[in-house]
Amino acid sequence: MTDRLIIFDTTLRDGEQSPGASMTREEKLRIARQLERLRVDVIEAGFAASSNGDFEAVRAIANTVRDSTVCSLARANDRDISRAAEALAASDNKRIHTFIATSPLHMEKKLRMTPEQVYEQAKLAVRFARRFTDNVEFSPEDGYRSEVDFLCRVLEAVIAEGATTINIPDTVGYAVPELYGAFLRELREKIPNSDKAVWSVHCHNDLGMAVANSLAGVKIGGARQIECTINGLGERAGNCSLEEVVMAVKTRRDFFGLDVGIDTTQIVPASKLVSGITGFPVQPNKAVVGANAFAHASGIHQDGVLKARQTYEIMRAEDVGWVANKIVLGKLSGRNAFKQRVQELGIPVESEGELNAAFTKFKELADRKAEIFDEDIQALFSDEAVTPHDEHFKLVSLAQRAETGERPHARVVFKQGAQEVAAEADGNGPVDASFKAIEGEVKSGSELLLYSVNAITTGTESQGEVTVRLARAGRIVNGTGADPDIIAASAKAYLNALNKLYTTPERLNPQTSLAP
Ligand code: KIV
Ligand code: ZN
Repeated sequence: MTDRLIIFDTTLRDGEQSPGASMTREEKLRIARQLERLRVDVIEAGFAASSNGDFEAVRAIANTVRDSTVCSLARANDRDISRAAEALAASDNKRIHTFIATSPLHMEKKLRMTPEQVYEQAKLAVRFARRFTDNVEFSPEDGYRSEVDFLCRVLEAVIAEGATTINIPDTVGYAVPELYGAFLRELREKIPNSDKAVWSVHCHNDLGMAVANSLAGVKIGGARQIECTINGLGERAGNCSLEEVVMAVKTRRDFFGLDVGIDTTQIVPASKLVSGITGFPVQPNKAVVGANAFAHASGIHQDGVLKARQTYEIMRAEDVGWVANKIVLGKLSGRNAFKQRVQELGIPVESEGELNAAFTKFKELADRKAEIFDEDIQALFSDEAVTPHDEHFKLVSLAQRAETGERPHARVVFKQGAQEVAAEADGNGPVDASFKAIEGEVKSGSELLLYSVNAITTGTESQGEVTVRLARAGRIVNGTGADPDIIAASAKAYLNALNKLYTTPERLNPQTSLAP
């Protein structure tokens, strides 16, 4: 056993399975670059066999990322594994992650396979994956609810076939820390060749214990890899959150005695990037990356922190990448000053074109907002308009009238392809009126599942960041928009969601689609 803990990030695969979190190839590439900057050991870039879009995203990441291992998920069949291998071909540092369910419930009800068939399929899958790389991970899906003796047989066989990492998913978030840790330890003790593989934990957060379970898997069970996502993104209640688990291991090194290779100063930028792209806001009281995580609101705490920060602070905000709310730029700032600040903030810029687009947006913002904070600059880069994304719908202008006792009215002008459309409607409030105006014209027939507004910085001058979640025919998308005028931010978010609804391709969910 080594003292090094491998951090395996699955934001782009398991995180993306969260309804509404699907990302374009460019968005995935931006996140992958940030994950590389964060120095995660393994990036699970997607599920290559699920769609052409996913295949291209995995391939683009494999072609670009050099410092992290790039991994693709594959169900335990030759087609999925070949697609994964093909997408990863350009990488010198690749991993194929193959899985099949092993719990009685999943085998009988989902796979409709006998345990013997699953056993054979698992062995064949790992043997086949080893043709393409010697870095093969195997996961028994719903592993934690599997029968121990059967699971031991399967895992012993796949290790003998050459699996180098064995991952034990708590797929439905049912585990509790002591039991999960003991389960891993039992497997490792019972399987004769268990020392030939690195053991890994993969915990879902349905009971809010994903981080605790993962840490127990490490401490009690001897795992040396943790699978996690930025902001704990993932289906249902999400996955183990990277920022929490990494800071727990680092802050309590006295207890865990393990090293992680993560550059923690990249944690907050990664959190903001993922939240901006997916439209999943981070709750203010979220550990490490929530806006209040380092805000010492009560007078007693402030006094203590001023005398000696350790009185109430166990981590330093700057160590996880928080930057003070500084006024960095204003309307007189030039392109060079803007570029320099963007670089200081570690924001990845793919091209001069992207920088120019962001600078134009910065100038527009600076005309309307005297003080531009770091958070504003970060939000500019989360804005779809900066990234080369197929923008069919785009806000041109918005006017609204709201007066006490009067029914609010909105007039929205937006681009629909090459055409400019003007639409008007009344509503319960100005946001409702502007959404009704857009919908009256577009007639998407979608249902609004979520509408939320957050202030990007403090004070009433702050930009509002809006998330809109739309559903149509079983598909869910999130749109985001930022603007000092929250009605305009809302219209931008609605149009952004429509862009995704009309352009994001259909894809398979690796776990719920028929397999293997
Ligand atoms: O939760 C799960 O079981 C998974 C596997 C595919 C690893 O995500
Ligand atoms: Zn999972």
